[in-house]
Amino acid sequence: MNFKFHRSKLIIFLLVALLLTIAFVFIFIKRPFFPLVNKNNNCQQTNLPYQNSALPIDQRVADLMSRMTDVEKIGQMVLIEKNSIHNLDDISRYNIGALLSGGGAGPKQDTPLAWLQMINDFDSAAKETCLGIPLLYGIDAVHGHGNVLGATIFPHAIGLGAANDPDLVTQVAQATADEMAATGIYWNFAPNLDVAKDIRWGKTYETFGSNPANNATLGSAYLKGMQTNSNDYFNVLATAKHYIGGGNMEFGTSRNKDFKVEEGNITLDETSLRQTHLIPFQKAVTNGAKVVMVSTATWNNKMNTSNHYLLTDILKTELGFSGFIVSDWYGVYAVADSKYDSIVNSVNAGVDMVMTPFDYKDFIFNVQQALSKGDITKDRIDNAVTRILTVKFETGLFDRPQALPEGLAVIGSDQHRDIAREAVRKSQVLLKNNQSVLPLSKSVKKIIVAGSAADNLGRQAGGWTTEWQGIDGNEGIVGITILEAIKKTVSADTEVEYDKEGDYSLENNLADVGIVVVGEKPYAEGWGDNANPSLSPEDLSAIENVKAKSKKIVVIIVAGRPLDIKEYAQNWDAIVASWLPGSEGQGVADVLFGDYAFTGKLPVAWELR
Ligand code: GLC
Repeated sequence: MNFKFHRSKLIIFLLVALLLTIAFVFIFIKRPFFPLVNKNNNCQQTNLPYQNSALPIDQRVADLMSRMTDVEKIGQMVLIEKNSIHNLDDISRYNIGALLSGGGAGPKQDTPLAWLQMINDFDSAAKETCLGIPLLYGIDAVHGHGNVLGATIFPHAIGLGAANDPDLVTQVAQATADEMAATGIYWNFAPNLDVAKDIRWGKTYETFGSNPANNATLGSAYLKGMQTNSNDYFNVLATAKHYIGGGNMEFGTSRNKDFKVEEGNITLDETSLRQTHLIPFQKAVTNGAKVVMVSTATWNNKMNTSNHYLLTDILKTELGFSGFIVSDWYGVYAVADSKYDSIVNSVNAGVDMVMTPFDYKDFIFNVQQALSKGDITKDRIDNAVTRILTVKFETGLFDRPQALPEGLAVIGSDQHRDIAREAVRKSQVLLKNNQSVLPLSKSVKKIIVAGSAADNLGRQAGGWTTEWQGIDGNEGIVGITILEAIKKTVSADTEVEYDKEGDYSLENNLADVGIVVVGEKPYAEGWGDNANPSLSPEDLSAIENVKAKSKKIVVIIVAGRPLDIKEYAQNWDAIVASWLPGSEGQGVADVLFGDYAFTGKLPVAWELR
C-alpha cells in the first residue's frame, strides 16, 4: 500500500474538515470561541484623570473614553442577568459593564450579608478589568428591597397612588434606597411611570394609577427620594419606566401566547399618547431622571425598542434627556428576525444599553461585527457609552466606598417600618360604610376573621417579593399580617377568632363583627393579565359563612387592582380597598379601629354596582 499517498490524502481531508467547521461556526452559530479583542495595553494604571474625583465628570468621561478599546466600550452597552455569569472571569473577559438580579435572583442563602458579599464579589471582578470600570448592578426594588429577606416591604405603587402623598412617596423611596445601598446595589428599576388605563393588565399595581398628572407628581417624588442624598452623587440611581404607553396596550394583542396585555399593541394616536403617557416622563426628565427603560410594547405595531422617533427625536432631542436608555428583557430580540438586525435597529433607534439577560457573548460579537461593517457607527457607540459612563460617575460608582456589613442594620429598621405603616394606613380606601360600621370599637366583644389574605404576608405583599411572582404564605417575608394586627389592636376583653374558610358554629349567638380579608394570589407582569379580575369561590364562600354568623360584615380586599364585586357589594356592610399593603399590616388596623381616619382615594376607577 502506498502509505505516503494515503497519508497526504488524510492530511488534506483533515484540513478541509477543519476549514468547514470554522466556516460553519461563523456562518451558523455566529459565536466567537473567544471575544474578538483589540487588546488594551495600558492596564491597571493609577492617578489618571478619570480616577480623580476632584475633576468635573465630563472631563473624567472624556479621559476614560480616550483610553477605551472598542471591545471595552461595547461591554458597557450590555446588561445581563447575574445567573448567566458562570465564571467571574467572564466579567473581565467580556468587559461586562452592568448586571441585574431578575425577580428573586439572589445569593444561595437569602440574607442581607449574603447579598452584600455577592455584590462585592461581582464588584471586585469588575475592578480586575483593564481600566477598572465599576459595574452598575440593577434590581427591581419596586416596593422596598423585596428580594431580600427582612427588608421592609412597602405598599405597591397603586397603594401609594391611593395615598397620593408626594412627601410620603419620597420617604418610601429614600428608605428603599438606603436598604438597597446597604447591600451595595445602586440601581433600581423604579419608578414605574405607566398610566394604568386597563386594569386587566398584570402590571396595574406597579403604577400609581390612571391619572397622568398624579403619576407624574408621585413618580418624580419617588425619583427624588431614590437619587438624593448628602453626598455629591446619587444614593441609588432610579429608572423611569416603561417608555412609553404602558397601561394602554389593547387587551388580547400580546405577542406572548401566555399573556393578554403585557407585550401588547398600543393604538393611541400621537396626541393621546403624549397627553396620557408622556407627561410623567417629561416631569421625570426635568427632575433628574438619568435612566429610561423602554417598554416591550408596540405602538401601532412598531416595537418601541426600535422606534427612533420615540427614543431619539422625542425623548433625547425634544425632552433633552441626557441619561441612557435601557431596553427591557429581550425586548430587543423581538424587533427583527435576526439578533444582528434587532440589535442594529435598536441601538440605532436610540437604545444605549441592551438588556439581553443570558446572551452577552452574541451581543458583543454582533455589535463588533456591526461596528466593523458600519451598520452601527463609532459615533453611535461613543454617544451611548458616554451616556452610560456619565451616569456611572453621577452615581458615584468610581468613588464611593464599598458597602460594609455594619450598614446592613438599616434593613427592615423600625424607622422604615414606621414609614411603611404610615403608607399603608394612608392608602386604605373606604369603598362602603353602611351605618358607620367603621371604625370598629377596640372593645367590641367578639370578632370572627376569615379569608385567604387575613393571615398571609405573601398576599399582602404581592409580586416582586422574595420571588418574581411573589409567594403565597408567610415564609420569606418579615412583617405583621392583618389578622395579627387586629389581635394586637383590640382590648384584652375582645375575643378574636380566625378560620380561613369562615367555618364557625357559634351555636345561635352571633359575633359582633365579621372581618373577611380576601383578594388576589400574588402575580407579576403578564402572568397577572386577567379578562375579569374577581374574587375566588373560596373567598366568596368565606364571606357568606362569616356573614351568616355576624351582626355586621366588613370585607377587606387585598388586591393589585379593582376586583369585580358588583354582584355582592350590596350585601356587605363595609368594604375597604387595601391594595397590596406589604409587610406592615398594622397600618390596616390603624384605620379599621379608628386610630386614624380613612383618607385614601381611588387611584383607578372601581365600579361597585
Ligand atoms: C421585566 C419588566 C421590567 C423589569 C425588568 C427587569 O420584564 O418588564 O419592569 O424592570 O424585566 O427585571
